[in-house]
Amino acid sequence: MKITYQGHSCFTITSGAHSIIIDPFLSGNPVAVLKPGEVKVEAVLVTHGHADHLGDAVEISKKNKAPVIAPFELVNYCTVKGATGHPMHIGGGHDFPFGRVKLTIAHHGSTTEIGAAGNPCGFLVTMDGKTVYHAGDTGLFSDMALIGETNKIDCALLPIGDNFTMGIEDAIRAVGMLKPKMVVPMHYNTFDVIKQDPEVFKKGLAGRPVKVVILKPGGSAEV
Ligand code: NI
Ligand code: MN
Repeated sequence: MKITYQGHSCFTITSGAHSIIIDPFLSGNPVAVLKPGEVKVEAVLVTHGHADHLGDAVEISKKNKAPVIAPFELVNYCTVKGATGHPMHIGGGHDFPFGRVKLTIAHHGSTTEIGAAGNPCGFLVTMDGKTVYHAGDTGLFSDMALIGETNKIDCALLPIGDNFTMGIEDAIRAVGMLKPKMVVPMHYNTFDVIKQDPEVFKKGLAGRPVKVVILKPGGSAEV
């Protein structure tokens, strides 16, 4: 499985012939190198309705005939805009042709320009036997220990930006609970208010049984 960081909280995940994108904030993202028109995926996963996550989801869904996979209320918003969708909700999992997706809690908000869009979520994505946990936007929560106990997480994608989400200290605590083999920081340095040094996160995990991988936008890692 290959993960490619597209900046902010956007990742593309490819395994064999299958490709998906999570939180496709590309247009207007000051650090993104990928253009929405270049995206070729079979599903668009969206953690919540904020513009820095929903991003180009509707356009990518239409162009690729790929469903938006998100909490029910947010999928409704996207399908009204012309996207196709597969609504899910927290605690629910589903087997798709590309792999399995399960929604986790995330402590955050979820709105679009027309108002509330249900609850935000995180995703557990399993493709070809490898599991990635994308935390979405969230503060630290102790149920991360349960997520870590009940899933063998090969790679955790965790926000470190502070202000809107966990900062570095809490993200280090999250790693302790999730026990992933690999962790990639996200949701930092896109804007001044979430400026962080990811090396501080890496140093904070020195000596712990986890590989910290810092990716630049456009950069990839094998999981
Ligand atoms: Ni948000
Ligand atoms: Mn955000």
